[in-house]
Amino acid sequence: MLGRLNHVAIAVPDLEAASAIYRDALGAKLSDPQALPEHGVTVVFIDTGNSKIELMEPLGEGSPIAAFLEKNPSGGMHHVCYEVEDIAAARDRLQATGARILGDGNPKTGAHGKPVLFLHPKDFLGTLVELEQV
Ligand code: CO
Repeated sequence: MLGRLNHVAIAVPDLEAASAIYRDALGAKLSDPQALPEHGVTVVFIDTGNSKIELMEPLGEGSPIAAFLEKNPSGGMHHVCYEVEDIAAARDRLQATGARILGDGNPKTGAHGKPVLFLHPKDFLGTLVELEQV
């Protein structure tokens, strides 16, 4: 069921400053900032060849990463995203093992226009896990 690591998402308080760190210190090639109002974030993508890093800054009121940044004011690793071929089958399998799906349990359209689910961090070693159907 578990496929490639699609991305690692890092929540940041200042996207411009975070982009400069990746660009200047690490020599990364960055996408232009992309506002995703329906997800409450602005993101910059960094292609690492085998995967991606997503820098996410809160956008608008009630951003889903606002509380995380209150606890981690200088930013931090927010979630990892794994690819799955069939998200409904993945959900059913996870629920059968007792793992908790966040929200109403139904896939939503993620930042890449594909169906995603988030799994409860307490069931996955303290890590928020996103599954994306590819
Ligand atoms: Co993600």
